[in-house]
Amino acid sequence: MQVETIRLEGRSPRAAAELDTRIRVARAALGQRAVILGHHYQREEVYRHADFHGDSLQLSRAAAEQEAEFIVFCGVHFMAEVADILSRPSQASILPDLSAGCSMADMAEIGQVERAWKELGTVLDPEREITPVTYVNSSAAIKAFCGSHGGTVCTSSNARRVLEWAFRQRPKAFFFPDQHLGRWTGHQMGIPLRDMPVWDPALPMGGLEAEEIRRASILLWKGHCSVHQMFQPIHIERWRAAHAEGRVIVHPESAFDVCEMADHVGSTDFILRTVKASPPGSQWLVGTEINLVSRLAEEVRSEGKTVEFMSPMVCMCSTMFRIDPEQLAITLESLVAGRMRNRILVPEDTAASARLALQRMLDVS
Ligand code: 13P
Ligand code: SF4
Repeated sequence: MQVETIRLEGRSPRAAAELDTRIRVARAALGQRAVILGHHYQREEVYRHADFHGDSLQLSRAAAEQEAEFIVFCGVHFMAEVADILSRPSQASILPDLSAGCSMADMAEIGQVERAWKELGTVLDPEREITPVTYVNSSAAIKAFCGSHGGTVCTSSNARRVLEWAFRQRPKAFFFPDQHLGRWTGHQMGIPLRDMPVWDPALPMGGLEAEEIRRASILLWKGHCSVHQMFQPIHIERWRAAHAEGRVIVHPESAFDVCEMADHVGSTDFILRTVKASPPGSQWLVGTEINLVSRLAEEVRSEGKTVEFMSPMVCMCSTMFRIDPEQLAITLESLVAGRMRNRILVPEDTAASARLALQRMLDVS
């Protein structure tokens, strides 16, 4: 699907320009007191105001390095939690719209994870045999669980290095909540698919036999991204039939068969770098969120590169999309007026264990 810049706003150009000005004026009034971090999936009208852009790992690092009093996170809830955990107590992490969650992160609840750990204890000794590893797309409580059980966190750009670390600690790993990232990474490490069974939290013992648990190298939590599950092998087959020289690049949250068919698999930042570094005239089919793909298509058009979106359906991260220019304007204007809205504050007991897990990740990245 050929992409044009997507316009889903229903705002007149004049209203959009007014909002843009409000954001710039409030931003200027705050000066060094505020920094805006923007994930690559943010819509252009928000993205252009960010001081730093990046994938989850880059934004985690950026959050840890900030001096500003206010870290305004244009991303989703778990990202603002990470910013709060890694920043100093004198700094505040702010999410312009509190309903900007991540549906994948919601697929692993702390109660389910604790129950799974107990159930595993009837078959083996998890504290000696399993390293819990959570994808950064998870709640602070799950990160804290990993931190306090000898485990860690990963992002899509360091999952392999983190899993290698996990296997140096204990012989098995339990990977939350994205089964696809876990499976793809395990496969890249040479682990057979049959040794990566899926743990279904809705079923007793995850729906697994004791023998399957004993032989598993990685237990994969039954979670996925609703955006990336839209990409299908048929989309790649059809496109390749018409673009013999074209290349396919996808995010590792895509299903295993899609990753297997792609020429490149990597984080949002990897996708951007790879396409931008390709020779003029290259043709690309990209499997990740449409705001990123749409912006990338525009950026490389002048070099004669074409970038197409993988699915015939518009699959946008609807929760990232909740951060709209109006929310950003209101958030910044409130700060100028001395009011803080939508602060994300992780309780310190949870934050301490989550920080430990995140620090282990940053140390191996
Ligand atoms: P990245 O870390 O690759 O930016 O991915 C974050 C994400 O949520 C992708 O859906
Ligand atoms: Fe979560 Fe998927 Fe949106 Fe990424 S694209 S933030 S995994 S819902």
